[in-house]
Amino acid sequence: MSKTAILEFDGKKYEFPLIVGTEDEVAIDIDKLRGETGAITMDPGYKNSGSCKSEITFLDGEKGILRYRGYSIEDLAEKSDFLEVSYLLVFGELPTSSQLEKFENDIRKYTLVHEEMKNIIDGFPKTAHPMGVLASLTSALTAFNPKSVNVANDKEMYEAVCKTMAKFLVIATWTYRKAMGYPLNYYDNTKSYVENFMQLMFALPTGPYKANPVVVNALDKLFILHADHEQNCSTSTVRMVGSSHAGLFASISAGVSALWGPLHGGANQAVLEMLEAIQKDGGDVEKYLAKAKDKEDPFRLMGFGHRVYKNFDPRAKIIKKAADEVLNDLGVDDPVLSIAKKLEEAALQDEYFKSRNLYPNVDFYSGIIYRSMGIPTEMFTVLFAIGRLPGWIAQWKEMRVNKEPIGRPRQIYTGSPLREFKPINER
Ligand code: MLT
Repeated sequence: MSKTAILEFDGKKYEFPLIVGTEDEVAIDIDKLRGETGAITMDPGYKNSGSCKSEITFLDGEKGILRYRGYSIEDLAEKSDFLEVSYLLVFGELPTSSQLEKFENDIRKYTLVHEEMKNIIDGFPKTAHPMGVLASLTSALTAFNPKSVNVANDKEMYEAVCKTMAKFLVIATWTYRKAMGYPLNYYDNTKSYVENFMQLMFALPTGPYKANPVVVNALDKLFILHADHEQNCSTSTVRMVGSSHAGLFASISAGVSALWGPLHGGANQAVLEMLEAIQKDGGDVEKYLAKAKDKEDPFRLMGFGHRVYKNFDPRAKIIKKAADEVLNDLGVDDPVLSIAKKLEEAALQDEYFKSRNLYPNVDFYSGIIYRSMGIPTEMFTVLFAIGRLPGWIAQWKEMRVNKEPIGRPRQIYTGSPLREFKPINER
């Protein structure tokens, strides 16, 4: 392969260097493009633009490959656990057993959330969407932790990571407790991180609570599968906000807002709402597949297809298997879930979907599995956020450690040329 790319523009030739990644992915480095040619590139939605070099996650959408720090998602989902994967993503290496134990214990040091945060939650109506509340509460954490972290100081950075992992899990579950009118629970430092999620969500003061280990294991796997996905919308948002040197909590709060949308993390909620609507309408899967194919019909098949995967999403393969196991173990018999299965089977056989690479994605199966675990639909995207948290932290840290410049795209102005201002009485 040549070492440069040549651009011919306005009668002149310009040469741009190439950047080649570990797996031979190629980028044309256009850092000097505007300076040399006066032109910029246009790429709405950034389908062809790399925003950074990153050592965190490798994704090959054509081959259906996903790796965190070089480890395959299949291996990690089978052999690791969420805190170990979080450590790997943020610090770059798998921890030793003493490092992992220390990490878990250090997270426990920060699991108490400031009591005054409860006043902030009280200000929200019970009907508020948990993702909106979570974005606000994450941002509010800044008020109680005003000192910004010095990224160059490993100890400070490590503490900030532990603090964020601890407090985010607690406030994420509080969004549900608030909606239900239940008292807010405290983290139990004698239990594991994922067990705590279930306990914080569901334990009531009126009786004992024991999280189902099948659910805890499946959730742990789901969190691993969601932990990072290179420069997706919410992660790019976290990096972009952080590039102005806004703090970690503020950047993550922006990431939560970006994740909320139905075209991103909000898709898992949208999938379940779609399945419920199909069920209410008599459960005719073929009718909805026909609607999805009809360009005139506004119906959109949620949970199918992916911007970067032109093959099966490797996470979806793992979740599909986990969903089958969990549904069996829990003995769940739910008409909405059987509609999901029928829809999946019919779409996988259908030439229209096959030829367009519209396979069920991670959000399709995660919604199904969350529902079978008794997680309320409005909390699905919050679970995605809990899983994605270590990825956001890792990407924020990498961006700051690499001293990346502030994110500041250009534009092509298509508005009015210079106009003369007319006083109001002359318009
Ligand atoms: C994700 O995991 O962030 C989603 O699949 C969306 C994406 O990668 O674009």
